[in-house]
Amino acid sequence: MKIISSPGEMTAWAAKQAGAGKRIGLVPTMGFFHAGHLGLMRLAGRHADLVVVSLFVNPAQFGPGEDLAAYPRDFDRDRELAEKEGVAVLFVPDAASMYPGGFQTTVRVGRLTRYLCGASRPGHFDGVATVVCKLFHITAADCAVFGEKDFQQLAVIRRMVADLNMAVEIIGHPIVREADGLALSSRNAYLDERSRNSALCLSRALALAQKSAAEGILETRELAGRLRDFILAFPGTEIDYIAFIDSRSLEPVAAVDADTRLALAVKINGRVRLIDNGPVLQPTASPGATA
Ligand code: PAF
Repeated sequence: MKIISSPGEMTAWAAKQAGAGKRIGLVPTMGFFHAGHLGLMRLAGRHADLVVVSLFVNPAQFGPGEDLAAYPRDFDRDRELAEKEGVAVLFVPDAASMYPGGFQTTVRVGRLTRYLCGASRPGHFDGVATVVCKLFHITAADCAVFGEKDFQQLAVIRRMVADLNMAVEIIGHPIVREADGLALSSRNAYLDERSRNSALCLSRALALAQKSAAEGILETRELAGRLRDFILAFPGTEIDYIAFIDSRSLEPVAAVDADTRLALAVKINGRVRLIDNGPVLQPTASPGATA
């Protein structure tokens, strides 16, 4: 596996591979790999000849007072894991090479970024869209894989690609969970045993919403009230949002239907902000389907 830190060298490598007819699959990451990241790398490998993983803790997507400095990092472990997955290049630029002096361009996606994390983290998606756009160009990606845990991020990137006519196929990877339901996240590294237990409020609230909807409670105001009480019963939880949204527009909906997704953001012990999401109505088995 090659380690490349210079954007220019990365572009030159990518141009050579593209010239040789190779399809490049990009997995953009901020490192501190877990099984979810490895799943993204494997999926990219099924869609491309060569997998490039970028590892860049992007300062432009962190707001003041967020966890940029504390964000978990372990380059040696990440390098080993990526190598084992057969990654061709680990691209590890630094902030000065991604945002050199004089940098003044921002990619801003409109309405989709008004809701959810966009409302709680002003400017976050400008930082994400800008860096992802740069990474697509630098790596000449033919396809790129993103996790569905960051559901809004995936929607924003799909919108950017469509709006700006980027020739990059965007592939979503389902959320990877621990056996007890906790969605994998690099930020889980911040959780001690007690707060990890409280972090289960997210996946359990999702299960509660699904159960309640299956029992016929479809009015989202009522569902949100139940979830609020349920989440706040876990010690040290502070709700950022409980949102029942349309899967495509991300706009809030009044009643659950087949396109409704529940998106949650909860702060644990005033420090660790976690997100999760999922469909509210479970797809029913099609007629004639066998178990
Ligand atoms: O999901 C992430 O890890 C980041 O937002 C991304 C897509 C790598 C952009 O910095």
